[in-house]
Amino acid sequence: MHVTKITVAAPAKINLFLHIVGKREDGYHLLDSLVAFADYGDVIEVEESDKISVDITGSYNEQLSGLPPENNLVWKAAVALQKYLSEPLGAKIILRKNLPIASGIGGGSADAAATLRALKELWQIDIAEEKLSEIALGLGSDVPVCLYGKPALMRGIGEQITPVVFQENIYVVLINPNIPLNTGEIFNNYDCKGGVVQKNLDISSIAELVDKNGYKNDLESAAISKLPIIAEILAGIRSSDDCFLARMSGSGATCFGLYHDEISANKAAKGLKEMFPKSWCVSARIL
Ligand code: C5P
Repeated sequence: MHVTKITVAAPAKINLFLHIVGKREDGYHLLDSLVAFADYGDVIEVEESDKISVDITGSYNEQLSGLPPENNLVWKAAVALQKYLSEPLGAKIILRKNLPIASGIGGGSADAAATLRALKELWQIDIAEEKLSEIALGLGSDVPVCLYGKPALMRGIGEQITPVVFQENIYVVLINPNIPLNTGEIFNNYDCKGGVVQKNLDISSIAELVDKNGYKNDLESAAISKLPIIAEILAGIRSSDDCFLARMSGSGATCFGLYHDEISANKAAKGLKEMFPKSWCVSARIL
C-alpha cells in the first residue's frame, strides 16, 4: 500500500560510556562508545510534495527557525537521499524539535536518521542498509548509530556498529543547562593520548557500566572546563535517591542519571528541575 504521510521518532541518543581511543590524521577521533536511546525525542513527519521543505515546530524550534533551511541536517539528509530517486520527488518535512540544540544527545543526528527512514518509505526507495548507513555517515558521525536506533557499541568514528542487548528495564533522567556546546570545540580541547578498545566487552547489563569498572566519558573534563555547571549538575544527579550512574552524554552538556525504577527517575527529575530551574530536564525509559 502506498502511504502519503509517515511519522518517525527521533529518540535522544545517550552515550552510556564514551572512550576516545585515537585520533585520525584528518582530526577526527576514534571512539569506543556504548550508545542507547531514550523513549523521548524529536519527531519527523513527511508528506508527499513536489519540492523539499522543512517546517520546524516544538519547544526548541526557535533556535533553528532563524537558520537557512539548507543548513539543517534534516534538509541535508533529504537532499542526500533524493539522489537515489529515478524521478524527481519532493517532500514536506515537519520537524518537531523537543530536544535542546547542540546538547550531546544527538538531536540533529537523530533527526537526520529519522528523515532517511521516513523518506526511504515515502519515496519507496529500494536501497541497501549498508548504503543508507554510508549516506548517514556522510551527514555526521553519530547518524549511523541513530539510524540503527537500538543499543549498540559504536566504534571507528561512528561507522562500526555492534548490536548490544540489555536484559533489564532502565529509566533515565536527562538534564541540560540550556546552554549549547560546540562538539568540534570540545573534541579539540580534549588532550588525546590514545586508549584501548574494550575488546572482550560482553555487556548485557547497564548496571555494570558504573565508574568503578573504568567506564566513563572521556570528554567530561573538556566540557566541564568550558561549562563548569556540568560538574554541579553531575553532583546533583549523583545525590538523587537510587541513582546508580551519573555521567555526561557525548560532548555535553546533557548529563544523565540511571535508575532501576520509573518512580525514582520521575522523583529525581522533579528534584533536579527545582535545583536547576533554567534547565531542560525529563525522565524517560531506555529503549
Ligand atoms: O560528525 P559531527 O558533525 O557530529 O562532528 C562535529 C565535529 O566534532 C567534527 O568536525 C570534529 O571536529 C569533531 N569530532 C571528532 N571526532 C569524532 C566526531 C566528531 O573529532 N569522532
